[in-house]
Amino acid sequence: MTPAAFQQCINPACGATVAIDQIKVSCDKCGGLLDIRYDWSRLPVPRSLSFFEHRWITKGTQTQGRLDFSGVWRFRELLPFYRVEDEIVTIGEGRTVLQQADLLARQMGMKPGTLLLQYEGLNPSGSFKDNGMTAAFTHARMVGAHKVACASTGNTSASLAMFASLAEVQGVVFIGSGKISIAKLSQALDYGALTLQIQGDFDACLRRVRQIAQDPRNGLYLMNSVNPFRIEGQKSIMYRVLEARDWNPPDWVIVPGGNLGNCSAFGKAFMELKELGLIKKVPRLAVINASGANTLHEVVNKQKLTWNGGRYDGTVVQKLYAAMDEVGYLPHTIASAIEIGRPVNLPKALRALEFMNGVVREVTDDEILEHRALVARLGFGCEPASAASVAGLRKLLDEQLIGPSESVVCILTGHELKDSNATVKYHTGIDLKAIQDLAPRSDPHGKLSNQPVPVEDDLNSILRAMDQRKGA
Ligand code: F0G
Repeated sequence: MTPAAFQQCINPACGATVAIDQIKVSCDKCGGLLDIRYDWSRLPVPRSLSFFEHRWITKGTQTQGRLDFSGVWRFRELLPFYRVEDEIVTIGEGRTVLQQADLLARQMGMKPGTLLLQYEGLNPSGSFKDNGMTAAFTHARMVGAHKVACASTGNTSASLAMFASLAEVQGVVFIGSGKISIAKLSQALDYGALTLQIQGDFDACLRRVRQIAQDPRNGLYLMNSVNPFRIEGQKSIMYRVLEARDWNPPDWVIVPGGNLGNCSAFGKAFMELKELGLIKKVPRLAVINASGANTLHEVVNKQKLTWNGGRYDGTVVQKLYAAMDEVGYLPHTIASAIEIGRPVNLPKALRALEFMNGVVREVTDDEILEHRALVARLGFGCEPASAASVAGLRKLLDEQLIGPSESVVCILTGHELKDSNATVKYHTGIDLKAIQDLAPRSDPHGKLSNQPVPVEDDLNSILRAMDQRKGA
């Protein structure tokens, strides 16, 4: 008998399965992405979503209280991959709010009550990533991982570093030198992760960390969203949106697209809720790229690529990447969090778009900055990448694809203070980043000082830098 939770290749023509306690980020047979799957008939699934409401009143520091307090684990019956509740790594993540934004709605020409902002920046490390990290760290604990790593545009690294110190495992983060905001870098340092500043961008960092994690001798557990357990945790963002709307799905969910983990998670959440009969209506999805990092927009809108029930034409993506290589294309956007040219979850994003009757749009840096400032002026703010969702909404309203009376949830993925440089530059014209390189001027002498380690984009140099930390 197969276990109730397992991993499975998302490619329907392959469908290979992997045990839940294996560390894999792709299918051994065909190289496809993996999903966490459940045999729901053998699991205690609530008959209605309102079942989860009784957990709002739980208090206390016992396991039950800690799990009910988490905005991820209070929905644990919908991500039941863990063995025992005590093993769950949680820091009280996911206690975020869905705010009715009537002032912004008015500015956008929408009816009062229609526009809602989901503030994922209210997570402990300041971004939505904590939803996924709690799940991936729970799996890491299940399999006894001691060292965890990710490539990052800043938020994943901050979240990983925070959870790594909490779970008492070594965290290693690969960031593109000069590519991430200073606030996000400061978090990784503060939480004590080995912070490798690679000469390259996010795509180069991800390639390297995947290469290193693939070799079991390096003992590195990969925490990027290509890890299917990350996606399990991020499904909970949609559960909270439903919860805040008395379990009524909105007409639209709009989310920025970077590595495309979040939109993939939303698609999976609704696929499962529909399969379980817990919702009737599925919202439409809009994924918004920055125009300087618009791979999804390019393949979906220009090349007309679709999931096609799993028979999508991967050569379209390969050809695009080959063309990017030929001209030495590198993505570039002020929204550094989504400055990604080769999103690893692209197939899952196509699947989510198909299931949620979704669309993809791109927005310029100016549109992102103006909408970020507008969100801040009319409430409390978000970082630039997050505002892509609101800028995308404006575009879809202009196109009349979204009507002024439709209910819309924009996901604000990161906190306003995550990139205060962008904010200060917008308001004063002063670019603090330009005067703020992190080359140490004098030896930092705090007892817990944790300097970033500059390193070439070269396998041996990176392995050497990682070994040095081991010896320290
Ligand atoms: N918004 C913010 C604030 C992000 O940090 C990211 C991704 C996204 C949106 C895009 O989400 O990758 O699921 O499509 N940041 C990653 C990082 C890549 O390394 O912090 P996605």
